[in-house]
Amino acid sequence: MDQKRKEEEYGAENNGYRVQEASERQPLNRFVPAPTASLDEWKRMQLIYSAALKEVNTKLEILNAEFQMAHRYNPIEHLSARIKSPESIAKKLRHQGRAVTVENIVRYINDVAGIRIICSFTSDIYKLSELIRKQSDVKVLKIKDYIANPKENGYTSYHMIVSVPIFLSDMTIDTKVEIQIRTIAMDFWASLEHKMYYKFEGNAPENIRRELKECADLVGFLDRKMMAINEEIKKYSDEEEEGVLISESLRRLYGMVNEENDGKDAVTQKENDAVVIDLDEAQLRRADEERTETAQRKKLFSMPKSRKATMK
Ligand code: GTP
Ligand code: MG
Repeated sequence: MDQKRKEEEYGAENNGYRVQEASERQPLNRFVPAPTASLDEWKRMQLIYSAALKEVNTKLEILNAEFQMAHRYNPIEHLSARIKSPESIAKKLRHQGRAVTVENIVRYINDVAGIRIICSFTSDIYKLSELIRKQSDVKVLKIKDYIANPKENGYTSYHMIVSVPIFLSDMTIDTKVEIQIRTIAMDFWASLEHKMYYKFEGNAPENIRRELKECADLVGFLDRKMMAINEEIKKYSDEEEEGVLISESLRRLYGMVNEENDGKDAVTQKENDAVVIDLDEAQLRRADEERTETAQRKKLFSMPKSRKATMK
């Protein structure tokens, strides 16, 4: 059994990556380990981590939309985001032999905020990770490339721990987000393996584990094969060049926005510069007449009450 797998991580359905209804969220006060952390501290922490998720999510949406425009193709099949439940956070810290304090969460739990990105091809994974890494406000803290180095059980995925700045009213806070990137096939495998792990609490029968390992090899084969076919198809189109052309025109158009304003004072509206629109009497009367006319027209088209009641 892989020692690194921790029971608490696998308690939630699909490791917590599931669309959660607002009503399903656990009230934080149930998990406050008094007196080490106050409810306010937990709430603040949750606000910061969900802000970080929103930020990374927006970055990814923008990259995907731009890719779609430039290459008529989405590198992201879909993505899901989750905040680790207070229960699993507490379990993980206890497992590490640490007290459940906000300080320990911030320091030792890297996946409070997690985003899982599903791509079609392995090449998309590396492309995306590079695009994320290149963003000037993203700091990459850790990378685990389980695609180049699959885990013993056959698990493959690309993991990044990044930090993004969250701008609050009085300070900026660098916040960690775990990004897992995989192909559809890798994700398919990981969810079944997760199910198996959870079902047998880490002690799955040897034959099931062996068969899953065989499937992992097939997943690798499928991903390589599909990527090769895709490369072959791409040779028949000139989309790459088109993408470059779009980038150049964007640079030409938007590249000078800041330079042109350099040295000039920022434009701010003075208080007494407020725009005042003077409507004369006649204009006001016309507007009133128009409103009455529309109201009358609406009445004309509305159904008589008796009819409405019988309509099904
Ligand atoms: P943890 O988040 O505590 O596991 O830290 P770590 O340093 O062990 O992280 P790692 O990057 O190895 O794994 C992080 C996450 O990847 C886990 O929480 C799982 O969501 C996923 N993961 C890692 N290994 C496996 C695996 O063998 N099977 C499945 N299904 N998921 C895995
Ligand atoms: Mg985790």
